[in-house]
Amino acid sequence: MNELEPSALVNRYESTDDWRAVDEYFALTLLQEDGALIAARDAGVATTMPNAEVAANQGAFLKLLAQISGARRVLEFGTLAGYSTIWLARAVGEQGQVVTLELEPENAAIAEENFRAAGVAPRIETIIGPATESAERLINDGAEPFDLIFIDADKPNNPAYLAAALKLTNPGAVIVIDNVVRDGAVADATSADPRVQGVRRVTEDIAAHPELDATALQTVGEKGWDGLIIAWRH
Ligand code: DHB
Ligand code: MG
Repeated sequence: MNELEPSALVNRYESTDDWRAVDEYFALTLLQEDGALIAARDAGVATTMPNAEVAANQGAFLKLLAQISGARRVLEFGTLAGYSTIWLARAVGEQGQVVTLELEPENAAIAEENFRAAGVAPRIETIIGPATESAERLINDGAEPFDLIFIDADKPNNPAYLAAALKLTNPGAVIVIDNVVRDGAVADATSADPRVQGVRRVTEDIAAHPELDATALQTVGEKGWDGLIIAWRH
């Protein structure tokens, strides 16, 4: 058996080139990322947060979660160029609906163009403004409960977004939170990064909630080292 030096192991498994190659292999082999999705991904560079959209494999994972859970109504916190929104909109089908919350009007305009190009604009509602306020309005307006909620906006507000998500779902709903690993920083309780603290606080809120079963999956790939929390409300 070949023995690798510890330093060689570190090099081997921290190579983002390798991670990218594997993402590319599976994306090209398994996924149906069409021109509209590719255009939406490319449009991400024109938003206020270039390259922050989920990786193709993760977009497909969100679509599968929505399909497996039979989701018809999806709520997304954080639209950017609408890349993950399109995956989710395709999952819910023609009769389904995705509501997506975006702070920046210029990002929302880019996203809406991408929704039209992808043929899913009629099933997506984009609400512009601070997501806490937009979600509060949905709650006060008595919005029909959502089946799947994807939280992928500003990380310090994760606890507020979860609290809103709990008011907008019933048992059976799925809640997914993006970017919970952050190059491993999540494990540092003393981190001064408000995004890390936002992730840790929402993790503790989920753990303390009697109706939420949850786990976290670390991911590596073209987006580096990060991960997702997946929760199910029972
Ligand atoms: C950040 C946010 C995201 O949603 C993402 O996918 C990557 C990074 C961030 O806040 O740094
Ligand atoms: Mg994200």
